Amino acid sequence: MGKTDVTVIDHPLVQHKLTLMRMKDTPTAMFRELLREISLLLLYEVARDLPLVMREIETPLEKMDSPVLGGKKLCLISILRAGDGLLQGMLDLIPSARVGHVGLYRDHETLEAVEYYFKVPHSLGDRLSIVVDPMLATAHSSIAAVNRVKAAGAKNLKFVCLLAAPEGIKTFTKAHPDVPVYTAAIDRELNDRGYILPGLGDAGDRIFGTK
Ligand code: PRP
Ligand code: URA
Repeated sequence: MGKTDVTVIDHPLVQHKLTLMRMKDTPTAMFRELLREISLLLLYEVARDLPLVMREIETPLEKMDSPVLGGKKLCLISILRAGDGLLQGMLDLIPSARVGHVGLYRDHETLEAVEYYFKVPHSLGDRLSIVVDPMLATAHSSIAAVNRVKAAGAKNLKFVCLLAAPEGIKTFTKAHPDVPVYTAAIDRELNDRGYILPGLGDAGDRIFGTK
């Protein structure tokens, strides 16, 4: 068993918005906007330990040394397509972030992740890479994405999702014990088709209105 480094972001605003997202009658536009709002709140917590450096500035009254973000720009890596629902809000908060994409879909029969696209920035080894996807179900997609991002050079990684299944967390932390997981909730279980229960349904379909 791998070490479990899992943070549940249980802020009341996150929990309230997540409840609205779970409701089956929440329309596409509202679902998308709620996900964008939650993504800001999740990143706020995930970014808590970003390094700061002191910079000399001048206020209208005097000089001072004041903290600004230090180190290389971080990289947000979206697992397509549902990851893009988290990406936009996070970019609003950190506009200078670099962005990568891993295109994966789950084979409906085997639930294995099938890759169809991969593009990430160079020099990932010097940056914090935050891999984002709303759903951590079997963990096949997140494990495959992190495998690829590590192979591209990333050494400092975090994984951020909205909902996780206990089975997925166990599998992911075993495969990648060095990658902390952040989620808004850990649900009860997976059903026999690999969907999270009670969950919120198919995240991609709900974000993009494809069902
Ligand atoms: C969903 C979701 C994750 C994956 C999670 O994507 O966005 O990527 O399932 O399931 P897992 O943990 O069992 O791998 P999906 O394959 O439906 O593709 P989509 O984002 O294109 O809709
Ligand atoms: N992917 C989804 O979009 N929803 C689930 O419940 C599981 C995987």
